[in-house]
Amino acid sequence: MLDPNSPQAQSIANLFNGSMLLGTAIFMLVTGLVLYVLWRYRSRGDTAEPRQYPGNRRLEIAWTIAPALIVAGLFGWQLDVMRDTAPPADRPPDIIVTGYSWWWRVEYPKAGFVTANEIHIPVGRQVLFQLQAADVIHNFWVPDLGPKRDMIPGHPNNTVWLAADRPGVYLGACSEYCGLQHAWMRLRVVAQPQAEYDAWIQQQQTAATPADAEAARGAEVFQNLTCVNCHAITGISNAQAGPDLSHVGGRATLGAGIIENTPANLSRWIANPHDIKSGVQMPGYQLSEADLRALVAYLGSLK
Ligand code: CUA
Repeated sequence: MLDPNSPQAQSIANLFNGSMLLGTAIFMLVTGLVLYVLWRYRSRGDTAEPRQYPGNRRLEIAWTIAPALIVAGLFGWQLDVMRDTAPPADRPPDIIVTGYSWWWRVEYPKAGFVTANEIHIPVGRQVLFQLQAADVIHNFWVPDLGPKRDMIPGHPNNTVWLAADRPGVYLGACSEYCGLQHAWMRLRVVAQPQAEYDAWIQQQQTAATPADAEAARGAEVFQNLTCVNCHAITGISNAQAGPDLSHVGGRATLGAGIIENTPANLSRWIANPHDIKSGVQMPGYQLSEADLRALVAYLGSLK
């Protein structure tokens, strides 16, 4: 919001900065007048009662009308911002995001794949998001790219319109308190030039394969353990309870932003996710060292 990167974020930032400036000016005016009166009418040792004023109609009308005009002006400005940021109603969404406690399911319905916690968008294009929630109310907000919007269970038709003027990684967060790990329900939006974005889409549509023999053994570990009951991997499982792992090796973080996606962190996460993110739904797994190494090699190779 303080570093707007899209037309709608710019519109919101203008309103925010304008209201802040106006509020600051009024605060300084009122504080200045109070200080002036305190000083101007301070006691000078005179014990006689000062002259009393029963009221001043003109002054009272003025200070009723002035704030009413300011509020009406801000209201009109707000309507303008709402118009600037309103998504079109008659278009199918480009991306469907579902809030879970505490991660984001990200579906690209046209391209036909699902990912999690990391959203890629093409630079300079308005992207329509449909927002929904799987369990409790969450809120989707990427401050540099657009307005925040609630995700409400049972109301799958909430939409928001985001864009990025420049390539980069923009951070988002759940902005509605949703339980223990609300603060670690982070989101990364990667804005890429069209060609790079197209390449990413194509990569996501293609099933990743184990990179080597160890990773191939890891794929067996994945299928023999209960991993397969909760996590989808293209060609192996369609389970939807946890984040889709088809291309987890290409993501920057684990646990919706709580740790960097490195082999060491992935091992810790599989063995003891609760040590890292208390309350997370995934149970810890005590694997043999060789199995854990193979599983980490496998997941890391899914790019
Ligand atoms: Cu989800 Cu706060």
